[in-house]
Amino acid sequence: MSAATAMSPAAVLMAFLLAITCLWTFPQVANAGVTRHYKFNIELKNITRLCHTKSIVTVNGKFPGPRVIAREGDRLVVKVVNHVSNNISIHWHGIRQLRSGWADGPSYVTQCPIQTNQTYVYNFTITGQRGTLFWHAHITWMRATVYGPLIILPKPNQPYPFPKPYKQVPIMFGEWFNADPEAVISQALQTGGGPNVSDAYTLNGLPGPLYNCSAKDTYKLKVKPGKTYLLRLINAALNDDLFFSIANHSFTVVEADAGYVKPFNTSVLLITPGQTTNVLLKTKPVSPNATFYMLARPYFTGQGTFDNTTIAGILEYEETQNLTTTPVFTPVLPAINATNVVSNFSSKFRALATAQFPVTVPQTVDRTFLFTVGLGISPCGNNKTNNQTCQGPNGTRFAASMNNISMPLPSTALLQAYYTKKSNGVFTTDFPITPLNPFNYTGTPPNNTFVANGTKAVVLPFNTTVEVVLQGTSILGAESHPIHLHGYNFYIVGQGFGNFDPSKDPKSYNLVDPVERNTVGVPTAGWVAIRFRADNPGVWLMHCHFDVHLSWGLRMAWVVMDGKLPHQKLLPPPSDLPKC
Ligand code: C2O
Repeated sequence: MSAATAMSPAAVLMAFLLAITCLWTFPQVANAGVTRHYKFNIELKNITRLCHTKSIVTVNGKFPGPRVIAREGDRLVVKVVNHVSNNISIHWHGIRQLRSGWADGPSYVTQCPIQTNQTYVYNFTITGQRGTLFWHAHITWMRATVYGPLIILPKPNQPYPFPKPYKQVPIMFGEWFNADPEAVISQALQTGGGPNVSDAYTLNGLPGPLYNCSAKDTYKLKVKPGKTYLLRLINAALNDDLFFSIANHSFTVVEADAGYVKPFNTSVLLITPGQTTNVLLKTKPVSPNATFYMLARPYFTGQGTFDNTTIAGILEYEETQNLTTTPVFTPVLPAINATNVVSNFSSKFRALATAQFPVTVPQTVDRTFLFTVGLGISPCGNNKTNNQTCQGPNGTRFAASMNNISMPLPSTALLQAYYTKKSNGVFTTDFPITPLNPFNYTGTPPNNTFVANGTKAVVLPFNTTVEVVLQGTSILGAESHPIHLHGYNFYIVGQGFGNFDPSKDPKSYNLVDPVERNTVGVPTAGWVAIRFRADNPGVWLMHCHFDVHLSWGLRMAWVVMDGKLPHQKLLPPPSDLPKC
C-alpha cells in the first residue's frame, strides 16, 4: 500500500482489511484509526485547455490532483518528493494539526519549502473532523495547479446525521491561466499593478462548453432518478468567490469546512476560496428527459478587473433517451455584485449542535481583537533596486494588509525560529491588537492609505479564549475577503454591515449554535466576529485566501504557546523538516 499514489479501490479494500486485522490483533488501539500512506510526486505534465497546451506542475501527473481519503481518527503519512525546479510545500487546508504544526505546510511559516529533489513526509492525525477539505500547494501561486480533495469519512460504523447518500461526488472549482500563473504573479509584483486575471474557471479541472474550444472538456455528472447524491463542493480558485447553481434542482446544505450544520435548502450557493460545502442533491423521481447546466460564476464588488466568465458542467440523467434532442435548462445566477444574496446565504449556516457534535464556543473571552482587512498602497521609489515599477493606483504599488500591516514572508520558517528561540530578526510579537489609526473603515477612505510592512505576530498563552472582529475596509473598493485561519476552526458569532460597534453588536451574537469554519467571507463593507480557544500550540497563519491579496501581504501570524501538561505541547520537529 505504501507504494500506492492515489489509492485504487483495491488499495482502499486492502486498507479496510488491514484495519480490521489491526482492530482484531490490537484491540487496545481499536479507536485509534489506521495509518494511510500516500506518495505525492511533484512533477510536470503537459496539459491542454482552451486550445493552449502547456506544462504545469502537478501531483503524480494529475490535474486536479489525487483524492486523499481517510476516516476521522486516521493518521495520514504523505511522502512528497519534489521533481520540479520550483520550491513547493503542501498545506492540508482545514486540518487542525493538533500539536503537529510541522505538518501544516505554509512555506516560511511552519516549514521551509521542499527544494528540487528533496523529500518531506507530512505526518498527522485527523482528530474530531469529518467531511470535505482539500490540500493545496502553499507557496507563491503554485496552488493554481497543485490541489486536490481531502475527504474525511466518519469513523467506522458512525452514520451521517443525514440520509445516507447513494453516491458521493467531489466538485472542485479551480481557475485556469493560459499563461504560467507563476509568471502572472511575479510580473504583478514587479510592476506594482494588478495581476492578469484567469482565462477560465474549471470544474474538476474542466472548463466546459461556454469557453472556446472546450465543449469536449466538460464535466458531466451522470445521475440516476430518485436518488440522493452528496456533492462535496470545494472552491480551489485563486481569487474568486463563486455562486453555484444547477438548473431546476435545489440542494440541502449539510456540512461546511468539515463540520456538520443544521440542514437547510437553497437553490444557489456561495463558496469562497478556501471554503468547502457538502450538499445533498435529490434527483427527480423519474428521468426528466432533459439535461441541466450546473453553473458557477463570481461574486465581485471590488474596483479592479476580475475573470467575468462562467463555468458550466452538465447534470445528465442516465435514462435520458436521445441526448442530442433533449432540452437543456440553464439556472439563473444572482447578479455579480449581489451582496444581499451572499449575506442571506451565509446567515443560514448554523452548527448542528447535538450531544454528539456539540458547540464549544467560548461564552466569554480572555482577549478581544479588532483587525481591519483590506487593500492599500505602497509608495513608489524605494524598490528601484529590483527593477520594480509603480503601475498601481496613482503611480504607487498595490498592497494589502491587516491592521495596516502588510506582512512579507521571512527567509526562514516562523515556527522553526520560534521553536529554536531564534526569532530575532525573523519576526516580532507586536502585531497591533486594534488599528493604530482608527478611521471610518467603511466610509470614505482616509487620504493616506499607505501600509506599513512587518512580519509580526500575536502571542497567546495556551487555552486563551479569543474573539477577533474582522473589519472590512473600503480602501480601493469594498469587497469581501475570505479569511482563513490555520490550525483552528473558529465559530462565527456575529456579522453585519458598516463599522463594528463594540457597545451594540455583541448583544446580537449567536453563542448557541454558531457555525464552525476555517474560512469566513468578511461581509463587503462590513464585519464578522469569530471566536476560538487557543488550544493548539504552534505558529498559525491567518490570511486572505485570495492569492493576490496574500501575495500583497494580507496575512498575520498567531503564536500559541505550549500548555503546562505534556499533551499540551507542540511535538518536536521531524528530522526531515526541509531546510531553507
Ligand atoms: Cu488554504 Cu494558508 O491556506
